[in-house]
Amino acid sequence: MEKQLPPFFQRSLADDPLTRDALADEAARQQTQIELIASENIASPAVLAALGHAMNNKTLEGYPGKRFHGGGQFVDVVEQAAIDRAKELFGAAYVNVQPHSGTQANQAVFFRLLQPGNSILSLDLASGGHLSHGARPNLSGRWFDAHHYTVNRETGLMNYDDIARQAEEIKPKLLIAGGSAYPREIDFPRMAEIAESVGAHFLVDMAHIAGLVAAKVHPSPVPHADFVTCTTTKTLRGPRGGLILSRSEELGKKLQSAIFPGVQGSLHSNVLAAKAVCLAEALQPDFQVYGQRVRANARRLAEVLTAGGIRIVSGGTDTHIVLLDLSDKGISGQDAEDALALAGITSNKNPIPFDAARPADWVGLRLGTSAATTRGFDLAEMTDVGNCIGGLINAASENKLADAVPHIKAKVADLTSRFPIYPSVA
Ligand SMILES: Cc1ncc(COP(=O)(O)O)c(C=O)c1O
Repeated sequence: MEKQLPPFFQRSLADDPLTRDALADEAARQQTQIELIASENIASPAVLAALGHAMNNKTLEGYPGKRFHGGGQFVDVVEQAAIDRAKELFGAAYVNVQPHSGTQANQAVFFRLLQPGNSILSLDLASGGHLSHGARPNLSGRWFDAHHYTVNRETGLMNYDDIARQAEEIKPKLLIAGGSAYPREIDFPRMAEIAESVGAHFLVDMAHIAGLVAAKVHPSPVPHADFVTCTTTKTLRGPRGGLILSRSEELGKKLQSAIFPGVQGSLHSNVLAAKAVCLAEALQPDFQVYGQRVRANARRLAEVLTAGGIRIVSGGTDTHIVLLDLSDKGISGQDAEDALALAGITSNKNPIPFDAARPADWVGLRLGTSAATTRGFDLAEMTDVGNCIGGLINAASENKLADAVPHIKAKVADLTSRFPIYPSVA
């Protein structure tokens, strides 16, 4: 006779209707809306299975083979697999897969390389930088003497001569490249040269483009930087978490203790398993096809929007990101985000270079094509999406949203129903 499980192990989400319903609603939202937030993607069922696994229960500190608790042999397997796969995928000599997030990956690098008060030089927020690179409200902006380079006002591109001049003036201890809304390819060898010329360490945060680097549609920073950080969530299409890579085992060894016990405690065992899964997926040939489509879709989106009379910052994109400048439309980024949401398209307001300080006054809208590409959208669908967005923005600008929304909403519903995501919400 099979033994009955105690009541605790018979419980399910059905016992918590509030959470169960919110989860079901979120799954339905993802199925029925077009996701264009550039930092989002749709993780595979295998990644989700690993995240939801009982490996969650395992507490461990330390590194494979050198733990502070017993019973870690199976977590060792997945952590080592994630390390080996990331090394192979990115051609890195050293990988740390434990960072709980991109922000903590950056903090660990700062903890290793910097002392409070040291100067850092990074892309400014309005030009597409990230909070964790020295923005005032972030710990990195409080503890370090943060300076920022901007993009060129006319072209929207990084100007390496200007950055070199600024670096010469500031003599930062750390130069940072990478951001969350810079849509163009970054010249990593040139940035490395600038760092070297002033004796700075060089960090690349490739959080947004990690999947494009893995798919070989964006040049890799790994051969050029001292450390490369990223999230596993965005174009890489994995669980929420971070990675730190280095071309040098020597540098890597110095970083090991910066994550644990430096800025983190125990690891997230189930997330390590999910990272191993997503890295194995990224090593498959079809991931390169996905990466090429992500960029081709972004370029198509930018073309269609430009044809619809909408200005694109930098005139286009080399990545998954398309940044719209709505300054001549008389609407804010928030107005545009709200207009798209009325038709079932999810996006986010964003500053454009030299934008106002207050988020309510930003005139940018950031779009990204990773999630839509993962669900199967190709050029034809991106053309439709671009026309929908152009229609909504122009209608918002002319106060004609009520006329425009119903047929665009129907188009979005048609697109999303033709491209189902997870089986349970198809
Ligand atoms: C460039 C960059 N770095 C770091 C992060 C932070 O990652 P997380 O949200 O995992 O802390 C992000 C997230 O958007 C990012 O875009």
